[in-house]
Amino acid sequence: MKVKEAIKKRRSIRGFKDEKVSQEEVNQILEAARLAPSGTNIQPWRFVVIESQKMRDELKDCTLDFVVEAPVVIACCIDKTSIQKRKRRIVELHKSGAFKGTQLEKMDASKYKGRKMDEAEIKTYLQLNCAIAIENMVLQATSLGLGSCWIMMFNKKKVSELLELKDNLEVMTLLPIGYPEEVPQQRPRLSLDEIVFDRI
Ligand SMILES: Cc1cc2nc3c(=O)[nH]c(=O)nc-3n(C[C@H](O)[C@H](O)[C@H](O)COP(=O)(O)O)c2cc1C
Repeated sequence: MKVKEAIKKRRSIRGFKDEKVSQEEVNQILEAARLAPSGTNIQPWRFVVIESQKMRDELKDCTLDFVVEAPVVIACCIDKTSIQKRKRRIVELHKSGAFKGTQLEKMDASKYKGRKMDEAEIKTYLQLNCAIAIENMVLQATSLGLGSCWIMMFNKKKVSELLELKDNLEVMTLLPIGYPEEVPQQRPRLSLDEIVFDRI
């Protein structure tokens, strides 16, 4: 499926068939996340793939029913320590030739400090980067004929405890994935005129 088609076909799916999703499909979805772009290539996304009935039953207390009815739920987390590895990532990027022919080529990557950010900015930055990986997964799932839904309605503390996450990990979104029970109509959207307020 072409990207354009996946973007058009994607819906938030809130009802799933009782049909297994193969490991091959799950891996393709995770690979789509892995390939996402991120600022200074920090790749702050981390995932827990939840497939066992036992864990999905336990997750029921933490979120909406339809989420745990999906055969696969991916807990999408940010690794808060990834921001500290910016210099390492920049050096890696520099070596890979990513900046060739640009002003950045001349930079001494080993001295990279990056823009100073306060805690709130760092959190937003990590979430922004993680969101790209999540949407890549959503679109990859769509192209495989699977449905998914971004979920932020969950009890963060309970989910972290249930998944026994280390302190550096914070769950950002749950992503239930499965074969859609039905494919809904496109949801309402603002018109282009409402979102493009100027063309200069
Ligand atoms: C960041 C984010 C958080 C969301 N959280 C929830 C949620 O907790 N529960 C839910 O049912 N849908 C959730 N959604 C799905 C939205 O309601 C949905 O994307 C929107 O209504 C547009 O519908 P569509 O995705 O089918 O086009 C979320 C979507 C995004 C992008």
